[in-house]
Amino acid sequence: MNPSELPLVLITHTLPDDWLTSLEGKVNSKIGPTDATYFSPDLEAHLEQAEGLFTLLTIPVSDELLSKAPNLKVISNMAVGVDNIDLDACTRRGIPVGNTPGVLTEATADLTVSLLLASARRLFEANLDARKGLWTTWSPTGWLGYDLDGATLGIIGMGKIGKAVAQRAKGFGMDLIYYDPNRIPDFEISLSVRFSPLDQLLHTSDFVCLHVPLTPQTRHMISYDALRAMKPTATLVNTARGQIVNTEALVTALKEGWIAAAALDVTDPEPLPPNHPLFELPNCLIVPHIGSATRNTRRKMAELACQNLLAGLVGERLPHCANPEVYET
Ligand code: DGY
Repeated sequence: MNPSELPLVLITHTLPDDWLTSLEGKVNSKIGPTDATYFSPDLEAHLEQAEGLFTLLTIPVSDELLSKAPNLKVISNMAVGVDNIDLDACTRRGIPVGNTPGVLTEATADLTVSLLLASARRLFEANLDARKGLWTTWSPTGWLGYDLDGATLGIIGMGKIGKAVAQRAKGFGMDLIYYDPNRIPDFEISLSVRFSPLDQLLHTSDFVCLHVPLTPQTRHMISYDALRAMKPTATLVNTARGQIVNTEALVTALKEGWIAAAALDVTDPEPLPPNHPLFELPNCLIVPHIGSATRNTRRKMAELACQNLLAGLVGERLPHCANPEVYET
């Protein structure tokens, strides 16, 4: 078929060709630049004809943008989180939004545990100090950290990633508690994870990790009060979304010793500017949103995003739809 007769799909970023093979011969694509942080004007010029949109989590999809795309049948976000997309506006316009749950669970849980271990054993500070020549002897009191064995891990958000973190943490001998608006009795039994109200979890945990989606309810869930409630020896690990934590409050908490440390894969703002106060704190380990960054995982995310896109283009139900209510209207 002549490519111009195929449905027009705008892909906001240049991705490796072998991630998108399932689209070959099925769509006519226009592709944006590799590291785009906003919707490229070159792509925007094609919005009116576009039937599909393939986006990454860095591209905001607003109602205004949607108003320029009257023929859009589907949006496929290559991420499990869809907080970059105005879901209500999509639903109102009858546009299903695809996301990629499941395929990034293990990679994200691995990174969470890496951050947990790195913070507990102060790897970031120890590495910086060794490079600065501060490793002058084997010091009996140098770079003392915390044990995971016997420590309490408070997991906020017991979805797929929270559960995968719990499985790993059990292997380190941690005591597990969780908070989630939905209690999951089977899981409590199988991994001896106890439900805890949020304030109690914050009071009692040695480590707190966040695995809730960003929603109006979870925005700034980790507030001044929440940080004040944590132990001065506690560590906060965030591999979910930066805006779940009030960044100003976190800077204060780390500077004033309300908590011992933080390890962040996600920040607010994101990316964090190099002169941000969080970068000046040795008790804050920051990595650039790499939770799902393994070769296999990113490829699987792209493949699932392609499946969602192709289903939406032919009017089929998306394998993973973030606004299923769109099918009720
Ligand atoms: C997601 O898919 O939402 C993750 O943040 C990407 O790593």
